[in-house]
Amino acid sequence: MARRKVTVVGAGNVGATLVQRLAEMEVAHEVVVVDIPQTEGMPSGKALDLMESGPVVGYDTRVTGATSYEATKDSDVVVITAGLPRKPGMSRDDLLNTNAKIVASVTENVVKHSPNCILIIVSNPLDAMCQVALKTSKFPKHRVIGMAGVLDSARMRWFIAEALDVSMECVHAMVLGGHGDTMVPMPRFSTVSGIAITELLPKEKIDAINQRTRQGGAEIVKLLKTGSAYYAPSASAAEMVESILKDKKKILPCAALLEGEYGVDGVFVGVPCKIGARGVESIVQLNLTTEERAELLKSAGAVKELVGALK
Ligand code: LAC
Repeated sequence: MARRKVTVVGAGNVGATLVQRLAEMEVAHEVVVVDIPQTEGMPSGKALDLMESGPVVGYDTRVTGATSYEATKDSDVVVITAGLPRKPGMSRDDLLNTNAKIVASVTENVVKHSPNCILIIVSNPLDAMCQVALKTSKFPKHRVIGMAGVLDSARMRWFIAEALDVSMECVHAMVLGGHGDTMVPMPRFSTVSGIAITELLPKEKIDAINQRTRQGGAEIVKLLKTGSAYYAPSASAAEMVESILKDKKKILPCAALLEGEYGVDGVFVGVPCKIGARGVESIVQLNLTTEERAELLKSAGAVKELVGALK
């Protein structure tokens, strides 16, 4: 196991589940989970509980909890999950200015102690929070990445696997755009063992899958009533952390700062990225149809509008 260090900010459902996944995956020697001072003891309690799971589950990852940032010093990757989750009926955008303050202050503290880290943002509204983290950190754009596309496409993958009654392992999906109601599921680039789903499912079924994907987060919020999804979000963030630490160079849909790609400039939008040791190593530019491009631009426009509403 490489002597690498990961920090997860926020010991809530997403953060704590992510720490568990990272510990079990043994992708880093050390995982630190940090939360606000008012949670005193809670992050340490979760960390200790996870260490005590190690002998049974079989891992040696060192997990520690903290309520100040000294413990996060020299992390290679920092995942920011801090912020309020949605309540039923709320959109991710309703969280904008509350979470912007939280993400800015977290980023400032993180950067002080880990000036060379790669930041993965999970807090909502995702694309705008990436912008806040980029601005606050002053990091180069390839070291600030948003987790959204992996989650949205994981949801779509399950819906496709369910519709076709096939193994989820064979199903890949691509969801581009902002992590909101305007996200753009891409059936032409969603496949079962290399076969585009447009060959396998009728149009009405694909439309229904696209729609359910767009509403995927809200569907969970509505069922849970007291928070938002965390199993799939944490799994998605863990895949990104692993691709960075092992320099796997997976092509994953992630929120990245676009500077001209896809005709978008100056905002974070979900696009296929090569994720490796340097962070976003490149952006894959797909040949889109006129309709797909219009949907992506509309989604980028929605993100831009939201960023403009940041106080
Ligand atoms: C979701 C939240 C985490 O999509 O944005 O479930």
